[in-house]
Amino acid sequence: MKKHNTTVIDYAKKDVLKIKHSVKSEEFKKFLLRLSKKNLLNFNHFGVITKKNVEEILNNEIKRKDKIKYFSYFQNHLIAYSFLTKFEKPTKRHNSILGMIIVDEWQRKGFGIKICSHMIKHAWQKKYEKIWLTVFLDNAAAIKLYKKCGFEVEGVFLDDEKFRGVKRNVISMAIFRNSKDTAKRRNKIIKKLRV
Ligand SMILES: CC(C)(COP(=O)(O)OP(=O)(O)OC[C@H]1O[C@@H](n2cnc3c(N)ncnc32)[C@H](O)[C@@H]1OP(=O)(O)O)[C@@H](O)C(=O)NCCC(=O)NCCS
Repeated sequence: MKKHNTTVIDYAKKDVLKIKHSVKSEEFKKFLLRLSKKNLLNFNHFGVITKKNVEEILNNEIKRKDKIKYFSYFQNHLIAYSFLTKFEKPTKRHNSILGMIIVDEWQRKGFGIKICSHMIKHAWQKKYEKIWLTVFLDNAAAIKLYKKCGFEVEGVFLDDEKFRGVKRNVISMAIFRNSKDTAKRRNKIIKKLRV
């Protein structure tokens, strides 16, 4: 594990949250297998994770060069995985896509806010100007978290995904390095389109 990859978030507490950019395969495998079905319903990035396909999933993910990956550790447990995906399109290189998932038993303890805030700060340091994401409309926890971190709702995608015959609405959210007037500009465009 490279030492320079480690970021200590909270120096004040005995137990610190450490966010690294690399992971050991075995650790990531255990993490992926610990995610509950309910958790994966809201984060279906990997599809269904089984003992059979977990190696393939983790190897593909670790190999990906288009993502800044964040592995969050607390008390030596890998408790969260999150990422910023870079766009391939040259005109979208200032933008990136955020995704995150926390192991069930480590949710609702304030780690989501800490990890998300850290990623935003890191993105601005890396000269990104916008972070974009999609989230299911019925995922109240994630929407609340992203709003708390400063994300604004950008759009609504009706019946965007279908799982076991049930359609789900998706919303897109974004945060901008310079958020001056973004809500005003967006509302002006929506108003104009409605005419
Ligand atoms: C969404 C997720 C990342 C939140 O992480 P977390 O560590 O539980 O969040 P935090 O403890 O930092 O909570 C931050 C705020 O989010 C909201 N929140 C989090 N979990 C919530 C829940 N189950 N119900 C309602 N609000 C919730 C709260 O407003 C909370 O602030 P509060 O504690 O002051 O009320 C986590 O629940 C998760 O991994 N979910 C499954 C995967 C997922 O949905 N990923 C996002 C896909 S886009």
